[in-house]
Amino acid sequence: MDKDERLLFLRNEANLSESQIELLTNPSSSISFDMINGMIENAVGIISMPLGIATDFLINGKEYIIPMATEEPSVIAACSKAAKIARNSGGFKANADEAIMIGQVQLVSVIFPDSGLKVLSNKERLLSLANSTSRSVIATDIKVKWLDDLINSGAGKMLIVEIIVNTSDAMGANAINSMCEAISPALEQITDGKAVVRVLSNYATRRLVRSNAVFHKEDLGGENIVDRILYSYSFAYSDVYRAVTHNKGIMNGIDALAIATGQDFRAIEAAAHAYASRDGTYRSMTRWSKTSNGDLLGELELPIAVGIVGGVTNVHPMVMLALKLLRVESSADLAMVFSAVGLAQNLSAILALATVGIQKGHMRLHARNIAISAGALGNQIDLVADKMIREGKISTSRAKEIIISIIDQR
Ligand code: MEV
Repeated sequence: MDKDERLLFLRNEANLSESQIELLTNPSSSISFDMINGMIENAVGIISMPLGIATDFLINGKEYIIPMATEEPSVIAACSKAAKIARNSGGFKANADEAIMIGQVQLVSVIFPDSGLKVLSNKERLLSLANSTSRSVIATDIKVKWLDDLINSGAGKMLIVEIIVNTSDAMGANAINSMCEAISPALEQITDGKAVVRVLSNYATRRLVRSNAVFHKEDLGGENIVDRILYSYSFAYSDVYRAVTHNKGIMNGIDALAIATGQDFRAIEAAAHAYASRDGTYRSMTRWSKTSNGDLLGELELPIAVGIVGGVTNVHPMVMLALKLLRVESSADLAMVFSAVGLAQNLSAILALATVGIQKGHMRLHARNIAISAGALGNQIDLVADKMIREGKISTSRAKEIIISIIDQR
């Protein structure tokens, strides 16, 4: 599709309004200086990023149009390619835990174990204090744990009070931070200690999201390719140097969706990498295995804290548009899309690595970028890129020569 056809497709499929189509056609109109000045400090301008659409996603039997903001060539093509292969076996299956997050208050100068017991006996009072700060986000439980001062900071044995919070459709950071601060004076009074850190934990291990998909061996190039993919998984499972790159590929998709939908991608990243190290060694985030008939089964489980309300989700016009494209009804729905995207991204990367390598796909996009930077316009871009690839010489000077020869032929 050319640009107009893509916009028409989105207008029809996602019921975009005229002003939303205008937003895509003229992205600089999406956000005013006043808006950014209200969002951050010392604002001076806006840096933009390409927004594209990953296609062919079928998740739990529902079709998705997936907005991705990324500057990296090949990411969207790779993601869509895996989604297309997964369709042949029914697409992705996904499920998500409830949106349970943890807020933490660190208390020092406290008496072990009495302070912890006193906190627990004041649970109801603490919960009602926490819940007085918010209507939609609900604190449901209070837990305590003790930590030793392993670096001899002088803190002594530390009491960590954890508030268990159901954030529903919000990511929840602000609400949880407010709760932590709201209960701290009471905690100091109950324990006779001092509250130091009062903030949410981004390690959302009670908010796990899982996805899986089967990729038919014929669609991957045969059982031999399935085997090679499993060898590459074994490498990523056992070697941190490979695991980091393997997981970076997964985050290519997850971050692109996070940026398009206005999520805290740093929080998602931090939690995902910690979860990849949960057995003490940093490993592949995905799991790959062979089914009884030789097809490839991929699975991904990650903590994914995302929201469809709060933050910039109700403020930034482009984020609102991205969420409209996704047609998600809850934060859990959105989290499941994140998981499927991460799995798809990984399949394409390891399929390429197990077969032709990743440079082949990159080369075409690289050649197109060079053609554009040399001044190629419209259909000249592909003509110039294709010719450079055929010749095996991709450079700005060659692109300029080809553009001139195209113009001369007219
Ligand atoms: C490139 O951005 C991502 C890959 O390196 C991921 C991988 O190696 O699995 C292709």
